[in-house]
Amino acid sequence: MSTISLSPDQFTRDELYFLLRDSIIPRPIAWVSSVDAKGIVNLAPFSFFNVCSANPPILGFCCGAKDEDSGTGAFSIKDTRANVETTKQFVVNIVPECLADEMVRTSDPIPANESEFAHAGLASAPSERVAPPRVVGAPVAYECELHSVTPLGANAWVMGRVVHVQIDERIYVGAKRGLNHRVDLLRHTELRPYARLGGAFYARLREIETMTRKDGG
Ligand SMILES: Cc1cc2nc3c(=O)[nH]c(=O)nc-3n(C[C@H](O)[C@H](O)[C@H](O)COP(=O)(O)O)c2cc1C
Repeated sequence: MSTISLSPDQFTRDELYFLLRDSIIPRPIAWVSSVDAKGIVNLAPFSFFNVCSANPPILGFCCGAKDEDSGTGAFSIKDTRANVETTKQFVVNIVPECLADEMVRTSDPIPANESEFAHAGLASAPSERVAPPRVVGAPVAYECELHSVTPLGANAWVMGRVVHVQIDERIYVGAKRGLNHRVDLLRHTELRPYARLGGAFYARLREIETMTRKDGG
């Protein structure tokens, strides 16, 4: 089998972004709510996202630069990054299939003094331990205290430590095989996590298979 063999130096900044965005798929989506110093609420989706550690419970996402100038390299930071650096808190909401349209609408550029919740017609509910509210309808919402912001060029890898979790009772299983607080996000089709592919493509979880491991995991 022949391959196209390339060094990252042979890509422009945008070409590298498209390579990574279109090949590392499917990706989960962190729907991140945050507040600024005045308490104005912000909500935006981030699919460069994953679990960094289960113990301690750390989630991470990459917040890209805003308006980066390929000539001068000048850039500004997105509201989410500005908010988490200022208030040190955020909520990662898991995006259910039934709120896919609303999720995409929350990535529209709107003025920083307006809330994406109102813009997308979404309801919010207060969080337990942090100031940013959660998205009503998210199957799971992780309330996070900022762990660190690691600048990566114009981007930043943002990590937060989970300090509280809100779980929709419809996907809460409870005790199973000796462990408590188990969840099943596949149980209700409309609550299944929505996945990001490349371009304008997304995926809905449908063909689920079982693969057993020797250790039973
Ligand atoms: C499904 C989806 C995934 C996205 N993933 C990212 C991402 O991983 N990193 C990023 O910087 N922007 C991502 N964006 C774009 C941001 O959501 C968008 O720039 C948003 O306006 C940022 O909002 P803010 O300035 O209020 O923080 C994504 C957009 C969509 C629709």
